[in-house]
Amino acid sequence: MNILVTGSNGQLSSEIKDIAADYKNFNFFFTSSLELDICNSSQVNIFINENNIHTVINCAAYTAVDKAEQDAEVAEKVNSEGVQNLVNAIAKVGGKLIHISTDYVFDGNGFLPYQESDKVNPIGVYGNTKRSGELAVFNSDIDGIVIRTSWLYSAYGNNFVKTMLRLGNERDELGVIFDQVGTPTNASDLAKTCLDILSYDKETNINSKGNMYHFSNEGVASWYDFAVAIMKLGNVDCKVKPIETKDYPTPAKRPHFSVLNKSKIKTDFEIEIPYWRDSLATCISKLHKKI
Ligand SMILES: NC(=O)c1ccc[n+]([C@@H]2O[C@H](COP(=O)([O-])OP(=O)(O)OC[C@H]3O[C@@H](n4cnc5c(N)ncnc54)[C@H](OP(=O)(O)O)[C@@H]3O)[C@@H](O)[C@H]2O)c1
Repeated sequence: MNILVTGSNGQLSSEIKDIAADYKNFNFFFTSSLELDICNSSQVNIFINENNIHTVINCAAYTAVDKAEQDAEVAEKVNSEGVQNLVNAIAKVGGKLIHISTDYVFDGNGFLPYQESDKVNPIGVYGNTKRSGELAVFNSDIDGIVIRTSWLYSAYGNNFVKTMLRLGNERDELGVIFDQVGTPTNASDLAKTCLDILSYDKETNINSKGNMYHFSNEGVASWYDFAVAIMKLGNVDCKVKPIETKDYPTPAKRPHFSVLNKSKIKTDFEIEIPYWRDSLATCISKLHKKI
């Protein structure tokens, strides 16, 4: 089966690349934004046709949450129109799409882990454009799955873990927000889940049309808790101080609570999800090996 993985310089796509060899039944095509711009519909159609692509894992996205507030048009183009182009191309070949979305489609006013059926109400441009991308999949007839994830980090790309390790080595003390709560997700766990879902689908022939799933690591943390764990596991001698969101103003508002309920994905695909702190330790040792 030929699988196209878009956005190949990003965190999730890079982690899929690392484990691709373990999935011998799949033949992967990884494309960067320069090799395949998902906003270019004819490029997308040609690539999918010429390479006989059956399945697309869409890791391409506009992910700069704060910048999106000033750059709504570009964010909408990538996160909504780009997804629509993939949907259209997949529809023509009768293929399958796994599309990745975000916990930022929720407003964060809840206090119980969000289920797939809970009401969405994005409070920023990024979340709004990602919601449009979800609808592009659901308003089509394709065999499409949307996986919402949260607080993604990886040994690749730019992310909170790498920023904390860098700042922690530069400073003696750091203030980090404690009144935003969610769950960190190691992109390598999500990468494995995407490929396991495709393997599972193949065995059981599940038609997953229109299915929404939530995936993050297990457990709950504030950004403060996350930062403390990063310093500890990274052996960085930097004191982390809890601060409030109001003391760290950003252009984009973020949900105060965005923990995802993962029961559905665990049941449907019989997967076990690692605890966030264990997965963080795995990422930090991968980072140390890379240095
Ligand atoms: N990062 C998070 O905390 C987080 C949280 C929840 C959900 N998610 C979702 O998870 C998915 C993966 O995120 P990630 O963190 O792996 O993203 P990432 O590291 O920012 O990578 C996204 C990739 O998409 C590429 N891209 C941008 N515009 C494109 C276009 N028009 N055509 C093709 N490629 C394009 C970028 O390429 P260039 O570098 O060349 O622009 C980049 O390599 C995304 O859907 C994101 O919305 C992320």
